[in-house]
Amino acid sequence: MNDLIEFDETQGLFHLHNQQISYLMAIEDFGLLSHLYFGPAVAQYHGQRRYPRRDRGFSGNLPGAEDRRFSPDTLPQEFSSSGAGDYRIPAAEIYQANGSKATDFVYQGYQILAGKPQLAGLPATFVQDQAEAATLVITLVDSASQVALDLSYTIYRQRPIITRAVLVRNQGQTPVRLNKIASVQLDFPATDLEVISLPGAHVRERQVQREKIGYGVKSFASRRGATSHQMSNFISLVTPATTENQGAAYGIELVYSGNHALELEQDQLGQLRLVAGINQADFSWQLAPLEQFQTPEVILAYSDQGLNGLSQAYHHLLKERLVRSPWQNRPRPILVNNWEATYFDFDEAKLRPIVDQAAELGLEMFVLDDGWFGHRDNDRSSLGDWVVDQRKFPQGLTHFTNYVHQKGLKFGLWFEPEMISRDSALYHAHPDYLLAAPDRQPAPSRDQFVLDLGRAEVRENIYQQMAAILATGQIDYVKWDMNRHFADLFSDALPADRQGEVSHRYMLGLYALLERLTQNFPQILWEGCSGGGGRFDAGMAYYMPQIWTSDNTDSVARLAIQWGTSLVYPPSLMTAHVSAVPNHQTGRTTSMALRGDVAMSGMFGYELDLTKLTPAEKQAVKVQIATDQQYRALVQQGDFYRLSAPETPAGCAWSFVAADRSEMLAFAFSELSQAQPAFQLIKFVGLDPQRQYQDQATRQVYGGDELMNLGLYRPVASGDFQSWRYHFRAL
Ligand code: GLA
Repeated sequence: MNDLIEFDETQGLFHLHNQQISYLMAIEDFGLLSHLYFGPAVAQYHGQRRYPRRDRGFSGNLPGAEDRRFSPDTLPQEFSSSGAGDYRIPAAEIYQANGSKATDFVYQGYQILAGKPQLAGLPATFVQDQAEAATLVITLVDSASQVALDLSYTIYRQRPIITRAVLVRNQGQTPVRLNKIASVQLDFPATDLEVISLPGAHVRERQVQREKIGYGVKSFASRRGATSHQMSNFISLVTPATTENQGAAYGIELVYSGNHALELEQDQLGQLRLVAGINQADFSWQLAPLEQFQTPEVILAYSDQGLNGLSQAYHHLLKERLVRSPWQNRPRPILVNNWEATYFDFDEAKLRPIVDQAAELGLEMFVLDDGWFGHRDNDRSSLGDWVVDQRKFPQGLTHFTNYVHQKGLKFGLWFEPEMISRDSALYHAHPDYLLAAPDRQPAPSRDQFVLDLGRAEVRENIYQQMAAILATGQIDYVKWDMNRHFADLFSDALPADRQGEVSHRYMLGLYALLERLTQNFPQILWEGCSGGGGRFDAGMAYYMPQIWTSDNTDSVARLAIQWGTSLVYPPSLMTAHVSAVPNHQTGRTTSMALRGDVAMSGMFGYELDLTKLTPAEKQAVKVQIATDQQYRALVQQGDFYRLSAPETPAGCAWSFVAADRSEMLAFAFSELSQAQPAFQLIKFVGLDPQRQYQDQATRQVYGGDELMNLGLYRPVASGDFQSWRYHFRAL
């Protein structure tokens, strides 16, 4: 027994609770584990949510049942079986040696652990001390196959968070095949919940979509081998009345970077089932006797303070108990990246003036992007050959990194470690290292192919190549890119009946490689990237404290991208850069001020040719750098609030509030200007209503209650694409 987790033996009832949330489940007839409740904390449960009994036509019963009013097809459950009379989407589908996929998981026992055990080989949230959380492990067993499921639930003491994962153990005599194994199932009684998801595309990631849930099955998924730009592995369930600051909001977020599916089914009675985990498409896993399979973790959160409340729960957890980098709370260097400045067309002589200019303007790091290795003059060659191109750096890379360091700048370097070009030495030496099906040409994407990272020798090769460069001690930052999705799911290293394991084995291999590199080179600032924000997820954040949010650097497009990303991910994870105009992705021209304010709302930098700036722009850059240095701790460590959404009449606005509520930085943005516009108010949130705050620009003093309840009129925009900054300090 534990003060966070109770088991009532007589009622067969589990209750996980803290000051904020309760999670309840019960052992029912036939040992089925039912889900009773997840929501605001209750002190005690008096049995009122036991599922009512009623005979529902065409919802059958379990073998031996006498009470026709009890059916697995209607009961809200913790982890449903398949082929045993529950016709809703199953959480597991397990084929046995005899060809049957029927399972009937029945309660066997439980264990309560202090703290939170780590998941073998997978990224996961953690605890720093055992008292901070407790973990309940409930074991269900299917007696015919002797497959056991350990369902684990960790509840944090101070957070409205429960993490879940499932360990499958084959205790039988014969192998079984996992066709589907979810990380979580969550059943809700009949509701009018709506779902918020984050669909997108390359250069248009994480656009907020909110919709009603009707009857039928809906799936938010990726089978691209990566989290994807196209559909994030997060959804939120909200009531129709839920807004940014009010109402109930549930969050479901996978800690995984590969294929995912978050499925919803509203059943015949209006009840809602959620099942989420590794996408069953392109997945099947052989489990020999005594073998185990660990699912990825899922983070469940609940807030009754609307979407901002939900986001804060995630932001704090990810910043405090997922990201492990020593850079998490260090000021992140303001960088200039040469990608949009030069693309592939550079050499040391051409880069030096950019470095000189960066130093002169007060930047803190120079990042050398794609094209420095092999003979890569375009995107058709050299991936896999992590050796400096002597044509571009005739005196070697160290000659250049020394130059950068002597100028007082840190040095960052781009890699795309998971890929191979056919035009590469690596391919000529190891044509079998890429994922490709026998007797078929693998399908190119950006003219490149995916390395089979499930193979230890492939990982070893890439590790050694990268470590040789990182061990020089010259590299302060690494941008880890990944620029295509998977098509040819076949590994030379696996037998025919294990080809369904390729995608997940790839992820395990990737995580092993990331673990080794980030642990052996912990002082490097690692930044994740996948054609911008194609793998922006909690799995990558475990290894890397920041991720390139999007290849779209247009500040207007970025408002919606950063807004959607902030639903789950804190600004400390999002990198954002000022780039040249007309913008390379949208062709739009915006002011330096707007570009600065949008980029400063994340981890700040530049992505342009500094030598081409006008004197006035250079002056603006100097001011921006000083401004970012002044505010970056607040942006990185403060609480982020969405105030008003992009593309609304009021226009986008957001704020950063210090943990002790002594300071607030807020930005308001306008998009297209209008004739005779309505006057729009900006109302701040998260301040202390009892304190007085001074506007640092006007010296005017307001109560926190005034700023939150009355708000201020926003200036009226004259011209398109404007931004305003507000900075308040408590007196
Ligand atoms: C991806 C990244 C870009 C850049 C290019 C280089 O698209 O997202 O920032 O590094 O690759 O090829």
